[in-house]
Amino acid sequence: MDNNSDYDLSRPIDPSQGMRQGLTSYGDAHFSLFLRKVFIKALGYNEDALTRPIIGIINTYSSFNPCHANIPQLIDAVKRGVQLNGGLAIDFPTISLHESFAAPTSMFLRNLMSMDTEEMIRAQPVDAVVMIGGCDKTTPAQLMGGISANKPILHLVTGPMMPGSHNGARIGACTDCRNNWASFRAGTMDIEEISTINEELAPTAGTCGVMGTASTMACILVALGLVPFKGASAPAVSSARLRIAEETGANAVAIITAGETLKPQSLLTRESFINAITVLQSIGGSTNAVVHLMAIINRHPKVAGTITLDTFDEIGRRTPLLVDLKPSGSNYMTDFHNSGGMTVLLHELRPLLHLGVLTVSGKTLGECLDREPLASIPRELQCIQPFDSPLYPGSSIVVLRGNLAPQGAVMKASASKNRQLLKHSAKAVVFAGSADMARRIDDEDLSVTPESILVLQNIGPVGNPGMPEAGLIPIPRKLAAQGVTDMLRISDGRMSGTAGGTIVLHVSPEAADPESVLGIVRDGDVVTCNVDERILHVEISNEEIEQRQSARREEEAKTRDAQPWRARGKMRGYRGLYMRSVNQADQGADFDFLRAEGP
Ligand code: FES
Ligand code: MG
Repeated sequence: MDNNSDYDLSRPIDPSQGMRQGLTSYGDAHFSLFLRKVFIKALGYNEDALTRPIIGIINTYSSFNPCHANIPQLIDAVKRGVQLNGGLAIDFPTISLHESFAAPTSMFLRNLMSMDTEEMIRAQPVDAVVMIGGCDKTTPAQLMGGISANKPILHLVTGPMMPGSHNGARIGACTDCRNNWASFRAGTMDIEEISTINEELAPTAGTCGVMGTASTMACILVALGLVPFKGASAPAVSSARLRIAEETGANAVAIITAGETLKPQSLLTRESFINAITVLQSIGGSTNAVVHLMAIINRHPKVAGTITLDTFDEIGRRTPLLVDLKPSGSNYMTDFHNSGGMTVLLHELRPLLHLGVLTVSGKTLGECLDREPLASIPRELQCIQPFDSPLYPGSSIVVLRGNLAPQGAVMKASASKNRQLLKHSAKAVVFAGSADMARRIDDEDLSVTPESILVLQNIGPVGNPGMPEAGLIPIPRKLAAQGVTDMLRISDGRMSGTAGGTIVLHVSPEAADPESVLGIVRDGDVVTCNVDERILHVEISNEEIEQRQSARREEEAKTRDAQPWRARGKMRGYRGLYMRSVNQADQGADFDFLRAEGP
């Protein structure tokens, strides 16, 4: 038997690879290896398995997650790629999060998923890991955990779903979920039609088929060099998706020989993240990606703190919007794929990109692009504009500051449906939280005009744990019925990446913070939003702000336990951990103890 020498107690064991990793944990390296052999045999493997590099495959399949329904097939294909190239592929589960089946919100659980991912990568004897995710919070959670664990990682996304069809027009989750629901609310669509549409909005497995958060994060993973070019957009149900999975398995075996250089803390540099933000701005991507990227960046010991919200705004000013996809434009992810997807987009963005950054292939981004020249790429469709003829000149996502948001707020200006609102000053109509808004928004007596600015408080990271995607405040029904389709809306919450409108999000500090200004804004205060000047201001004097804050503190002292900000010290379990540790949106809404120190 080849490995008899493993039981020669005078012989040191090399614990560097495969099942030999972590041998010191029992204190007796030979006995540890002996035990590992017992259990690897219990799994049905022969001893040859001990000699192979092990590629872990993170399996986030769940019957609650239709966006991940194709994962069993993808795992088979990754395993094929690993095993054809001499590795041993072993899949293991972590938490799975779907947007509609994770209460109170999937964002509440993102950091838990990232901890699960980090610790399982650390704990198990894997030489490299393929992380299969797709739905909005899963890929950010995996990258956060993967960077912190710092073993070689590769991403594989499940891929976008196909569009459905209604009355001869294509529809897809979830921009069209919102448009059609708005028509139903306004009374221009009847209950039969909205029910029919419900059947067609998500007609296949895969992630939402527009440039929502899932697709945005998939494109960002390509920009970061963690996914092959076609890997962001090949449909979930296509054979191309399976071939990408097989290629990812092969790449995972190759990455091991590269040693330190392709571990995420070396592979990913500040320039990689600058590229990612450039791509985010050029695709009109989801505002959620700003929060996720801040969390991801702040996990990286060599980059944390070197990129702030202002970096997103600066990059936005020089980056044109090139991709015509919903919600900023009119097409679907399948169209993006058939227009050449990320390969074409990265070629167009070449003048703005750092081409020397490494990718998991071991080649630089520039070298990867050179291998697929623009002229060689089949382009059936044209939903990617040339660099010099953009859809929108720049600043798709902007960062606003002012006394209402001293630490910043974010707006996807390219998704505004009424551009006059980008420079607007009017009286605020304030809702104290989601419940208050739900109760009053459609009240016939609500004192609101099409010019009013709707302000929603207390949907930030602590105020409404998980920072729900409630920032798309609905147009009051009486105004919607008059044909109003957009109003300036402001909150400390998030908005789905599939939504559009003139919406200010992620106001930091959030309203629940007793020191915030958002928390003391009242009906009738005049608010000014000026996107050109990046201003978000409320016309209240500093003196008045201090008076209101001190009145608020007195009031809250009387009802101490009802206030989430104050009660968090007493909460148990994960909720308590979350409430005590979550930082503000401008920092990524990560747990402060997971953040890296930074250079
Ligand atoms: Fe999973 Fe949209 S719900 S990607
Ligand atoms: Mg979403």
